[in-house]
Amino acid sequence: MTGFDGAELKLLTDLIEERFGLTFQGIRLEILESKLRPRLRELHLAGVRDYYQYLRFHPDRDSELARLPAMVTNNETYFFRETHQFDLLLHHVIPERRGALRGRPLRILSAGCSSGEEPYSLSIALHNAGLALAGITWEIDACDLNHERIARAQAALYPESSLRACDADARRRYFVQEPDGFRLRDKYRQGVRCFQANLVSPNGSVGWSVYDAILCRNLLIYVSEEAFGSLIALFARSLLPQGYLFLGHSESLLDRKTAFAPTMMGGAVVYRKLAAA
Ligand SMILES: C[S@@+](CC[C@H](N)C(=O)[O-])C[C@H]1O[C@@H](n2cnc3c(N)ncnc32)[C@H](O)[C@@H]1O
Repeated sequence: MTGFDGAELKLLTDLIEERFGLTFQGIRLEILESKLRPRLRELHLAGVRDYYQYLRFHPDRDSELARLPAMVTNNETYFFRETHQFDLLLHHVIPERRGALRGRPLRILSAGCSSGEEPYSLSIALHNAGLALAGITWEIDACDLNHERIARAQAALYPESSLRACDADARRRYFVQEPDGFRLRDKYRQGVRCFQANLVSPNGSVGWSVYDAILCRNLLIYVSEEAFGSLIALFARSLLPQGYLFLGHSESLLDRKTAFAPTMMGGAVVYRKLAAA
């Protein structure tokens, strides 16, 4: 039970799904409701139907639609989450592409990067592996629907909770403690470009056939079947031939017909763009 009228709520969730690909059931619907209440009060609206009308027809609808992702996305993330996949990149993907990487940077996309902990953790891993000494450079694009999270990623200033998997040594090495939190050291910010993008309706900021690998972790669990298909097709277009797609541990392309082949790498399943795709 959410407390809101079910039919009215469906109008709104259908609109959110159409725009951003996100779906809501069970607890996620309740979370959505709890985030909506204060916004309805601020706008002096009586109910969800009025809010829906506002989003469709109000002169300020564009700015309201732009702030909607901050209310409807789950942005949970932290530094060094699922680092096993960084090891796969370092020990399998990079050695395999070493020849090509003599003449150009390694290019990676972090799709759905939230406040940047994932791309910055990867940047730290690449630095620690001494790639720069081996003459390998990199560019990490990192995008998210939620502009508030992207602003945080660009500031690279983090609360304690983002560092929950960092021991004292990691805190000292990678961050500078400031009154408002932990600022990532400049060295690890270089080569990482964080920008806002709706991947379900991409605005052109995501490159075409440019990435060696894409990390899209813990995003697909929130999207509709249709958005799932369009995201996977976007990733196939954005990867170089035989590029790799890394998903979160509860996400999978098994049992789906896509432009990717599941491949075992270091004991884990990763997805490789088919040569013919
Ligand atoms: C749970 S976070 C995952 C963060 C990080 N990848 C990780 O695994 O720690 C999921 C992110 O996907 C983003 N997202 C959801 N729908 C999106 C869309 N249509 N386009 C871009 N990002 C989206 C959300 O804003 C959220 O920050």
